[in-house]
Amino acid sequence: MSLPPGFLDELRTRISLSDVVGRKVMWDSRKSNQAKGDMWAPCPFHQEKTASFHVDDRKGFYYCFGCHAKGDAISFVRETENVGFMEAVEIIAREAGMPVPKRDPAAQAKADKRTQLAEVMEQGVQYYRLQLKTAAAGAARDYLAGRGLSEAAQDRCEIGFAPDARQGIFSHLTGKGVAADLVIDAGLAARPDDGREPYDRFRGRIIFPIRDARGRAIALGGRAMDPNARAKYLNSPETELFDKGRSLYNHGPAREAAGKGAPLIVAEGYMDVIALVEAGFPACVAPLGTAITESQLQMMWRVSPEPVIALDGDRAGLQAALRLIDLALPLLEAGQSLRFALMPEGMDPDDVLKQQGKNAMQRLLEGALPMVQLLWRREVEGGVFDSPERKAALDKKLRAAIAKIKDPSIRGHYGEAIKQMRWELFAPKRSNKKGAWKGKPAPVQPSTKSSLLVNAGQGAEEHLREAVILATLVLNPSVLPDFEGELERLDFTSPEHRHLRDCLLRFSGAADLRNRIETEAGAALASVLAPRHVQISPAVRTPGDAEVAAMCVAEELAKLAAKRGALREIEEAMEDISGVVDEGLTWRLKQAAEARDKAVRSENEDKAMFDTAPSGAQMDRDERDAFARLLGEIAQNSGAKAKK
Ligand code: UTP
Ligand code: MN
Repeated sequence: MSLPPGFLDELRTRISLSDVVGRKVMWDSRKSNQAKGDMWAPCPFHQEKTASFHVDDRKGFYYCFGCHAKGDAISFVRETENVGFMEAVEIIAREAGMPVPKRDPAAQAKADKRTQLAEVMEQGVQYYRLQLKTAAAGAARDYLAGRGLSEAAQDRCEIGFAPDARQGIFSHLTGKGVAADLVIDAGLAARPDDGREPYDRFRGRIIFPIRDARGRAIALGGRAMDPNARAKYLNSPETELFDKGRSLYNHGPAREAAGKGAPLIVAEGYMDVIALVEAGFPACVAPLGTAITESQLQMMWRVSPEPVIALDGDRAGLQAALRLIDLALPLLEAGQSLRFALMPEGMDPDDVLKQQGKNAMQRLLEGALPMVQLLWRREVEGGVFDSPERKAALDKKLRAAIAKIKDPSIRGHYGEAIKQMRWELFAPKRSNKKGAWKGKPAPVQPSTKSSLLVNAGQGAEEHLREAVILATLVLNPSVLPDFEGELERLDFTSPEHRHLRDCLLRFSGAADLRNRIETEAGAALASVLAPRHVQISPAVRTPGDAEVAAMCVAEELAKLAAKRGALREIEEAMEDISGVVDEGLTWRLKQAAEARDKAVRSENEDKAMFDTAPSGAQMDRDERDAFARLLGEIAQNSGAKAKK
């Protein structure tokens, strides 16, 4: 997917940044000068009463003198609507009355069976919704009414009904010309081994459509109405479209609501999510019938820095919450954590809302425990620590848990918090065990994305990695087409880098790309090529080897993605290009993604990667190490400066 040449420039000239921003802020009329395009308002990215947020309408940039948020119209929409680059472009293009660019048809046709499957799924969703309105669905409607779901709520959640027919949806879809194999590959029907006709997978069930973050229908959940049914819930099987462990129910709407400041709540079931949304907690997701996976956790963190986990108040729910701690500990970063709202014994969020109401739920959410307290509780609850040996054993367990935290600063804070709770537990005056964790925890903070961005050390490192990517692509333009999608999505740390990216996309394919970029963005290019760390990068020092260049870019993208927790994005990019480019590159990108996964975990990051490419191409390990060391130094220096 790539934007037509000049599209972004045209988009930026067509719209006025102050119009885009004006919908979210109240201008300070005394400070602003409309004629000069010089506008001031209280900042939408942090709490303040004074107007320190400045929009320069002519340049198309904003900057906050308070929290240092900065960017252009696209980044403003990304931040305020909580959407990705292409989605932001689409939103702005629509407002500007510009046609939203489509993918080129040839690539589209090759690339995407998934699109076809999503269309089949969409037809399936609509079919089941219609079925719920028919005479045959009386019992289903009664069931839903009995569970307190109004018709409006049913429509909002697109709830449907699968009649108890062997070939209901199958005949409907094939009758409309959909190939039988597509119906089966979408997971809507199954083909028996004995060669008989395919049969509907969902029969006599309430249907909950599952959409991905972009709103595409990817799967269904089906709840039996018969209390004696073999499985209460039956979900779509894994398909080319549906990867259970990488999907969240209600992801898209929750992301949008969280972007507007609603706290992200994670429940166990579809009905919990629906009940929460209906009760006015719109940012709510659920995993899909399995324990929460690492990818799902990363997806949640991309929606909100501190999701509130609200699992069922039974043994299974508590167990799941405790297991989640182990999954989350190694992944904790500044501004990326969890809280746990514990439901009353035997209730799930749906029950709490029904039996105790919205305010009770609100109080439970506000009282959500920070993860460190649940960790403490897990290790301490039910234990008796009346001897030095027992105390030592507890200390050992707690130390082991804390040791799983990779981030040194967070590890330190966990150590402090545990020390405090330990002191309260063992202090002679207050040996009441429960007192340790029953204290009132701090309220949940609304999402503050900026906290992720203020770490100067990290910012410097990211800036360098971006420079390597941009320099490599300018010097090796032949690999550029393979990375357009990722480039578009990449969140650059500076306007110069963004400008250079836009130029690369615009001139991609041009024979005189380097010259044109020098004319358009000479200064930015020079600043990207100059630093020593860029110059020692192999793909920059000896340009012309497309394979080395592709690996270098893929690796830096992967590292950035890993840094930013954007694991899913790079995989989507790979899906976009798979089938379009040659198999070799796709394979290498997959390798890069895997290596990236390791890189996040491994202690000595840069060592293991790409010493030898699958084709046998060598990358000099010394060079790589020098590069890594340099990055480390720079990150440390700026980190040290930031502390002073
Ligand atoms: P629950 O049994 O807690 O669901 O399972 P629930 O939402 O409370 O159910 P009801 O409708 O109110 O009685 C939580 C989730 O686990 C998955 C489903 O995704 C469900 O939403 N699940 C549960 C299954 O996949 N299969 C099952 O048989 C049961
Ligand atoms: Mn439940």
